[in-house]
Amino acid sequence: MTEKILILDFGSQYTQLIARRVRELNVYCEIHPYNHIPEIDSNVKGVILSGSPCSVRDSGAPDIDLDRVNHGSPVLGVCYGAQLIAHKLGGEVMRSEMREYGRANLSKVDTHYELLKEIEIDSQVWMSHADTISRLPEELELIASTPTVEAAAFKHKEKDIWGIQFHPEVTHTKQGQEILRNFVVHICGCSQDWTPDIFVESTINELKEQLGNDKVVLGLSGGVDSSVAAILIHQAIGKNLHCIFVDNGLLRKNEFEDVLASYEGMGLNVKGVDAKEQFYSALVGLSEPEAKRKAIGKIFIDVFDQESHKIEDVKWLGQGTIYPDVIESVSVKGPSATIKSHHNVGGLPDYMKLKVVEPLKALFKDEVRRVGRSLQIDEKILGRHPFPGPGLGIRILGEITKEKVRILQEVDHIFIDGLKKHDLYGDVWQALAVLLPVQSVGVMGDERTYENVVALRSVSSVDGMTADFSHLPYEFLGHISSEIINRVKGVNRVVYDISSKPPSTIEWE
Ligand code: XMP
Repeated sequence: MTEKILILDFGSQYTQLIARRVRELNVYCEIHPYNHIPEIDSNVKGVILSGSPCSVRDSGAPDIDLDRVNHGSPVLGVCYGAQLIAHKLGGEVMRSEMREYGRANLSKVDTHYELLKEIEIDSQVWMSHADTISRLPEELELIASTPTVEAAAFKHKEKDIWGIQFHPEVTHTKQGQEILRNFVVHICGCSQDWTPDIFVESTINELKEQLGNDKVVLGLSGGVDSSVAAILIHQAIGKNLHCIFVDNGLLRKNEFEDVLASYEGMGLNVKGVDAKEQFYSALVGLSEPEAKRKAIGKIFIDVFDQESHKIEDVKWLGQGTIYPDVIESVSVKGPSATIKSHHNVGGLPDYMKLKVVEPLKALFKDEVRRVGRSLQIDEKILGRHPFPGPGLGIRILGEITKEKVRILQEVDHIFIDGLKKHDLYGDVWQALAVLLPVQSVGVMGDERTYENVVALRSVSSVDGMTADFSHLPYEFLGHISSEIINRVKGVNRVVYDISSKPPSTIEWE
């Protein structure tokens, strides 16, 4: 078993970020709600207590048994975590007179302590709290301060318990990663050997043991997660993995053929299913976005279910679920029961009583890509922009027809291909075209035209939760606009979407 750091979540918006930073140090870690702490066995090398929107002074504030978590493993409290430690040991936590939010610089740092080794005086840190530790208890000693926050960091005089009131996980804390390294490597003694290669090797061994001679069915989408999950399972059980790739008629131009060929090239046992007509007929007369999503989802389940029944004795459903899908709903209110509701198995019909295998469920998206590279999966698949399950179905506003799909596929192809040719594809998080239910007047040669308007959208983002429009060069946009209008019959106007999310969303429907 791998050594690990446990992160106990008290509901801070930054908890996932702590996990990412720890993993960047090649140390495996897991997030657990503070009220569902797993067994702290010898694999647990240390425990980090996260921040929280709560105040330790509130009645019913999130609390833990400090002796239990500190039993055999060092503890680091961050922000609320630090305040909780101080409060529990008899210190005083008060509402701060000034809200301590934003950048500050360390005015005192005691680098004799392992947590602060090589941390410079004046180093910038990021504070974000309404409460502050106004008096440290006897058992804790002060090891760092800023001009406004005296107890910026502390250590327990006898035990391996540490606290910092600023956030080491955000980039505004310039030496935050050094502090986390000091904790996980020097204080907890983690060996930093959790690399993509090791993950691949151990996951394949675990899958072999778990699956034996059983058959697994897995739906491929062409995206990164399902592809990497498939290759991992394939390396463990070979032809016993049966992949299904459904053409719903709403994919990008040539996508079905291209992706199918590259899956076959990777040696996957994959069946391409042409279900276009089933999807188109289910969509007739539907123009409301959620109604279209539901219809597309339902047909997908029907087709997938039908196909998987053709595989005899299949026992498992493989899925490309990733870590954010599993931990998304961890909150201060959340017992583990609520975690399940976000779990990516909602689409599974009841009568398909398959066990679920999810080899990526401990990984963040960028880690999935690194694992994909370690598996030597083609960059063309690993670097792909996210693409929604309902595909072009939610980019054709209003009712979907085959002719509209054809128009949008052509437009999208010119845009995406142009981004690739101009070396812009890798710089943007996601790019897309939308066919608007609007016609506008134009002139081509001597003729008046009255045709469709398309919108191009390209965004930069980290996780799709917030996004800004990409500042693509005007020359590029001008070139793509004339390519589209000259080459795609039925389009005479192109506009560029300059909205950010929020308040707009990335997709138009
Ligand atoms: P929005 O439009 O909500 O999109 O800003 C955020 C991200 O989610 C994708 N998206 C979807 N993905 N099914 C999916 O699988 C959907 O119904 C869906 N709607 C949006 C979107 O492409 C973007 O990456």
